[in-house]
Amino acid sequence: MDLTTHYMRLQLKNPLVASASPLSADLGNIRHLEDSGAAAIVLPSIFEEQIEADMLHETLTAVGLENSAEANQREPQQYLDLIRRAVKAVDIPIIGSLNGTTEEGWISYAKMIEEAGATGLELNVYFIPTDISLTGRDVEQRYVEILRAVRKAVDIPIAIKLGPHFSSMGQVAMEFANAGADALVLFNRFYQPDIDLTKLRLLNDLQLSKAIEIGVPLMWIAVLSGRIDASLAASTGVENSEQVLKYLLAGADVVMTTSALLRNGPRYVKELLAGTRGLLSQRNFRNPDSFGRANYMKILQGYEYTGSRTGN
Ligand SMILES: Cc1cc2nc3c(=O)[nH]c(=O)nc-3n(C[C@H](O)[C@H](O)[C@H](O)COP(=O)(O)O)c2cc1C
Repeated sequence: MDLTTHYMRLQLKNPLVASASPLSADLGNIRHLEDSGAAAIVLPSIFEEQIEADMLHETLTAVGLENSAEANQREPQQYLDLIRRAVKAVDIPIIGSLNGTTEEGWISYAKMIEEAGATGLELNVYFIPTDISLTGRDVEQRYVEILRAVRKAVDIPIAIKLGPHFSSMGQVAMEFANAGADALVLFNRFYQPDIDLTKLRLLNDLQLSKAIEIGVPLMWIAVLSGRIDASLAASTGVENSEQVLKYLLAGADVVMTTSALLRNGPRYVKELLAGTRGLLSQRNFRNPDSFGRANYMKILQGYEYTGSRTGN
């Protein structure tokens, strides 16, 4: 069966993509993902804020004001090396991921990621407007400005990873496509703190997703499919091949997965793909006889003696 798909101007051998997570920071995992059938891999995001903090730390260390073996740990150079090594190690597209804070940061790191050889770039905007004076328009404008600036700076395909909290998702999706996004990733999964009632403090454990969470992205993929000039990646809630299939049926060009791979390991890609391909095959039917029978009786049960259809 031909499972090829087009995503952010790339031709992929199938629609299963490993989304950004620490799993893809490791070359061994990257190879396992490819061997198991992943069609593309998104690397974990590089965070401008983190780089700037590390650089400040490094400067302070250099002048003797701070002392830590960890200084300089996450310099951009390490990330760019990861891109170079990943691109060399596998044949599938490697997509870099960036979370900037300043316009200059978005532009300069995007250029570095392109120069290091990434096949595409995902913009992980991850912006939660905790400044309550910001309007919805301000927030949308921020996304558009980032997109326009990065679009001007690089030639590689760009995807933008969104949260689900826009008041008019369809209109902003169209605006982002017009501002240069080759793909929209629907959706990022924002941190939602809980409270520890015994210790009276915030709990910030990251929970892996569950299949029940596909509802919102599934709805927006279905609404936007075929209506905007950008491809669509479904992200959130893939636990098994059923969710992959549902997203594809709704119109996703690719389906991304992180939690399932963190739970089951990179080789789980194989299972996700195998289940998708054979879900309606005879061996997976509860009643395999369905394929061998003429099924006339079932059809006839839907008719009254007059011969008119009564519905189901
Ligand atoms: C441990 C962990 C680390 C993640 N790191 C990133 C990241 O660096 N950049 C990013 O855009 N998304 C990151 N994500 C979000 C995932 O890429 C994905 O969008 C989200 O987990 C929803 O997909 P899932 O339901 O398949 O897990 C991370 C998720 C997890 C669980």
